[in-house]
Amino acid sequence: MSNLKAKPAVESVPVNIGIEGKDRKHLAALLEAALANTYVLYAKIQGVHWNVSGPNFYGIHKMTEEQYGDLAESIDELAERIRAIGYLAPTQLASYLKQSQIQEAAELGDARAMLETLAQDHQTVAKNLRAAVKEADEVDDVFTADMLTARIGKHEKFAWMLRASAAR
Ligand SMILES: [Fe+2]
Repeated sequence: MSNLKAKPAVESVPVNIGIEGKDRKHLAALLEAALANTYVLYAKIQGVHWNVSGPNFYGIHKMTEEQYGDLAESIDELAERIRAIGYLAPTQLASYLKQSQIQEAAELGDARAMLETLAQDHQTVAKNLRAAVKEADEVDDVFTADMLTARIGKHEKFAWMLRASAAR
């Protein structure tokens, strides 16, 4: 078991896809945890997109736009996967915040601090996805495992780009 903060998901209709009910329930909770992390990071990246300033403004503004756009697509895919395995997608922002391992930014700091914080956050998301992939694989949910594996690659790439942009 991972240390993912997963709360019980809500089943909607019976689904018969060759994955046991209890396993689908656990997968739904893992996907909810990934969704919560992605949602909070999405909002945080957008905050940087809007508020960053300094000599590298334009590059950071464009880079964060690419990143939050990608996360928005991922949010949709994660929620739709939860539906496909028979559970209801969470819709309350409060529940995202409660489950997320990404902290909301009270203060953004300067441009470099913003970049470093986002790089850390992407790595936190990647680390947790890695644990979720292992668990999805264990119950033969190859689609979820593939989907989350692709997300790891994205978050690691985004973390690298942010680190490289923050380098002195
Ligand atoms: Fe914009």
